[in-house]
Amino acid sequence: MNDEIKTKYADWIKAGKIASEVREYSKTIIKPGAKLLGIGEKIENKIRELGATPAFPINLSSDNFAAHYTPTPEDETILDKQLLKVDVGVCFNGAVGDTAYTFDLSGKHDKLVEASKKAVENAIKIIKPGVMLCEIGKVIEDTITSYGFQPIRNLSGHGLDLYEIHTSPSIPNYDNNDTTQLEKGMIIAIEPFATDGAGRIKEGSHANIFMQEQDKPIRDMFARKIFEEIKKFNGLPFSTRDLVKLFPLNRVKLALRQLLLNNNIQQYAPLPEVNDGMVSQHEHTILVWDEGIVLTK
Ligand code: CO
Repeated sequence: MNDEIKTKYADWIKAGKIASEVREYSKTIIKPGAKLLGIGEKIENKIRELGATPAFPINLSSDNFAAHYTPTPEDETILDKQLLKVDVGVCFNGAVGDTAYTFDLSGKHDKLVEASKKAVENAIKIIKPGVMLCEIGKVIEDTITSYGFQPIRNLSGHGLDLYEIHTSPSIPNYDNNDTTQLEKGMIIAIEPFATDGAGRIKEGSHANIFMQEQDKPIRDMFARKIFEEIKKFNGLPFSTRDLVKLFPLNRVKLALRQLLLNNNIQQYAPLPEVNDGMVSQHEHTILVWDEGIVLTK
């Protein structure tokens, strides 16, 4: 990395570094018998300890769930033999580091885990300005199918920007014919998902990840008070775990329902594979320069 990059992307480098440190830390606390809720809180606290904030609630999605599961304050899950996806988002001065890996507590899914890991590694190798998005998708698809699995086609990688965890370009996990080219200076997250199912996710239920939407009048006084707290997330996603530090859970739940109906917030439900196939995921944040510079190594 040259000095120009180090200066210009200092916050992005820092966000990426913290994200990888937290990812590695999570590997030391995930074990059978541990509570999923405790794991989630420890990971998010580690992000804060290192001087950043979660860019989104820690995603700890098990087995057939690809993404968007974060423990509720009432979660009683105990780790046993899950195929656990750990997706860490770190925000440092608005810059975002986004990285994920899969922890296989069952020991039965080595190949599936390797498929998404190799897919992101192979995709990173071809990153440079001018590369077409469909070429990245093809490398991911070819890698995953070479293991006998399917990429999840309706989930994709994405661009990152200040306080924006999902912006253009959308990086496909298969060859989708998108000829848009990568440009120098883009910061992207590549995140292949591999499955032994059909290769698609659907929207599940019981969302616990929310994000601010329209800042418009709210009738209920308590909901209004909660919305004032929500605004402090700068448009980044949050979960009920963030709000129960300040308010009782029952009232939080009621207020969130009102805010959803009034379009003040939107929700992101957990995403199960359509055939309940097992799902693995790996992700890195990359700065597109003369080659791909992995910020979450
Ligand atoms: Co991502």
